[in-house]
Amino acid sequence: MGDWAKHIPQFQWARNSAVECHLHTVEATGSIPVAPTNLHSNGENMKRALFVSSLIALSACQTSAPQPTNWSATPKYKIADLKTPVATLPSFKMSIEAPFVKVPLGLDPENLNIPTNNPLTPEKVELGKMLYFDTRLSADGSVSCATCHNPEKGWTDQLPVSSGIRAQKGGRSAPTVINSTLMVEQFWDGRAATLEDQALGPLVNPIEMGNPNHETVTQRVQAIPSYVPYFQKAFHEGVTKQNIGKAIASFERTVLSGNSRYDRYTAGETSAMNTSEVNGMNLFFGKANCTRCHAGPNFSDSMYHNLGIGMDKPTPDQGRFVVSKQEQDIGAFKTPTIRDITKTAPYMHDGSEATLEAVVELYDRGGNKNTHLDPRMEPLNLSPQEKSDLVNFMKALDGNPYPKITPPKLPE
Ligand code: HEC
Ligand code: HEC
Repeated sequence: MGDWAKHIPQFQWARNSAVECHLHTVEATGSIPVAPTNLHSNGENMKRALFVSSLIALSACQTSAPQPTNWSATPKYKIADLKTPVATLPSFKMSIEAPFVKVPLGLDPENLNIPTNNPLTPEKVELGKMLYFDTRLSADGSVSCATCHNPEKGWTDQLPVSSGIRAQKGGRSAPTVINSTLMVEQFWDGRAATLEDQALGPLVNPIEMGNPNHETVTQRVQAIPSYVPYFQKAFHEGVTKQNIGKAIASFERTVLSGNSRYDRYTAGETSAMNTSEVNGMNLFFGKANCTRCHAGPNFSDSMYHNLGIGMDKPTPDQGRFVVSKQEQDIGAFKTPTIRDITKTAPYMHDGSEATLEAVVELYDRGGNKNTHLDPRMEPLNLSPQEKSDLVNFMKALDGNPYPKITPPKLPE
């Protein structure tokens, strides 16, 4: 690890350039480094290449040429050239690919990562929502996706690690489903390539929903007569394992959060954030350099880093290593989004950090020392005021309105 910098140019990330390009309201002067691609992670797939090139493409919206990276420099940008009166700032745009989906300010309406073999339709979203909330998909009828990814709890369970059927505990914390379609890969270790694949996993995980195989799930759904017409409407065919995955993934693609006070601030509504939050933002993109990893509209580079979380356990979770078999991925986990972060404590893949204050302390000391610590982790020497500014900035990332989704009436 550490020699990636030799291979590739440093990409420049124009802060929130998506918003700036679409609304043409704000001119950002100053560019922010985005973490370079990890050349060592296995399977340099098309998807990642596209993700990275879209980061570059977005930054190309900026007129200024990329400047050499200076990690310690505080970026200089100003809100200027406000062409749209603030009062008319739209809080969402319609998705280009699925025009019935409202994409909140701050996310890119052109990129919900909808696969060509699963176009997003209202029928699939409606069916997927039912399946998502239906405990009959689990072996003993006690657990649904919403048990662990509960809309009332920031689409998590707010537990350090999740409990599945028969109250069995897993080893990892449930990530939020919010904006999960913007992630290049799914799970803390990225072992699922798509939301479609991901959705099929928990159904047959012995600890989560406990089915022996997908056959038993499809048979159980088929046996609920009024589900069948919903599958016919959405897929023009019956209940299959693939269709269950596609429907749930379609629903998840509509669970989006943005239009936070930060998004409105960067779109020109300068009163949307207070002084402490603005200072926190400058630290996040500057001195504290959180955006090395929490980059782009969803505040994640969709890559894997070792911060030393849980590495002092007798048998630490190996994280990304299990998937990539690359030594430098030992103890590395996917960078999570920090949108709606106030709703999803406790934090980290093992739920070991109880508060945002504790998370900032962790970064301030340069992470937890261990052999595979990410080289981007270094002590930050933040003052108490700076620490609280950073926390306040993260709180300004709460979505508004927060996606309000209530359990639907289920077929009988
Ligand atoms: C028993 C609790 C539990 C249940 C039930 C459950 N999940 Fe999860 N989910 C988790 C945990 C824990 C993880 C992280 C596991 C890992 O990374 O290895 C996860 C990961 C995910 C992710 C990845 C998010 C990301 O950013 O990587 C998505 C999406 C997801 N689950 C959706 C679902 C769906 C859809 C269902 C229902 C079919 C479901 N989950 C059922 C606990 C659960
Ligand atoms: C080297 C890349 C990197 C940098 C730099 C970084 N983060 Fe993270 N962040 C991560 C990863 C990876 C995780 C998950 C780690 C784990 O669970 O093992 C994470 C987790 C978090 C979480 C918990 C999210 C959750 O849902 O559990 C918060 C909050 C957070 N980071 C905020 C920050 C702040 C604030 C900074 C700057 C002071 C920062 N990060 C800098 C990569 C990074």
